[in-house]
Amino acid sequence: MTPALPTGAAKTARVRSMFDAIAPRYDLLNRLMTFGMDQRWRRTTVRALGLAPGSLVLDLACGTGDLSVIARHDGYRVVGTDLSAGMLARRRHDGPVAQCDAAALGLAAASCDGVVSGYALRNFTDLAACLAEAARVLRPGGRIAVLEVATPANRWWRAGFHLWFDRAVPVLGGLLSDREAYHYLPRSTVYLPDDAALRQLFRDAGFAAVGRRLLYGGLSQLLTATRTGMPPSSSAGR
Ligand SMILES: C[S@@+](CC[C@H](N)C(=O)[O-])C[C@H]1O[C@@H](n2cnc3c(N)ncnc32)[C@H](O)[C@@H]1O
Repeated sequence: MTPALPTGAAKTARVRSMFDAIAPRYDLLNRLMTFGMDQRWRRTTVRALGLAPGSLVLDLACGTGDLSVIARHDGYRVVGTDLSAGMLARRRHDGPVAQCDAAALGLAAASCDGVVSGYALRNFTDLAACLAEAARVLRPGGRIAVLEVATPANRWWRAGFHLWFDRAVPVLGGLLSDREAYHYLPRSTVYLPDDAALRQLFRDAGFAAVGRRLLYGGLSQLLTATRTGMPPSSSAGR
């Protein structure tokens, strides 16, 4: 029988140790799992911010720093934060990073112009707290762009996606990295709220103009929003 997915502190501990363990081959597996499309989706994510060059962008749950590298290339100043010391140790840039939980960032309120985050939402233990924290560190009018996996709506595309993601990826992960982790990662999509609930979480955290775009027929999703200048309870876009 497949064990139930962890919640609360057990989830945080499991996620941290899992990413510490898979960090050495994380980038390689990403490229193989997505046939290299993941980097194109990350570029789309950074461009969705649409901020002025020199803006300060937080790469939330930055991992090995793929989004940070792209954001720096696009002229942004970037700071990264992540739970896993192993992932941070494997980063491919020399920019500033800090190890911390996304629900408790050590950054001043309204200190960032933008936030990007890639494939981390479903790993967060308390999604509402993490979005509220992202909103806290963003200035009013600041932008957020969040990339996450999705499930294609088309049944044939969805069948192919499940065959690859649920069956082939754990085998690939077992050969090149950690089978248990690459079995867990596809299963962890069940943590993701549906479209309407996810948009509401963004609005409740203090974001307006919440948009969602499906990439490659729904293999990934890109959520974008703007930090309101008002308290969450009176935010626009509800
Ligand atoms: C799938 S990786 C994505 C890494 C990177 N953003 C990317 O695009 O490749 C998910 C990352 O989220 C981090 N993470 C998970 N839960 C976290 C939390 N509560 N706070 C901060 N980082 C977290 C993990 O350590 C891991 O580096």
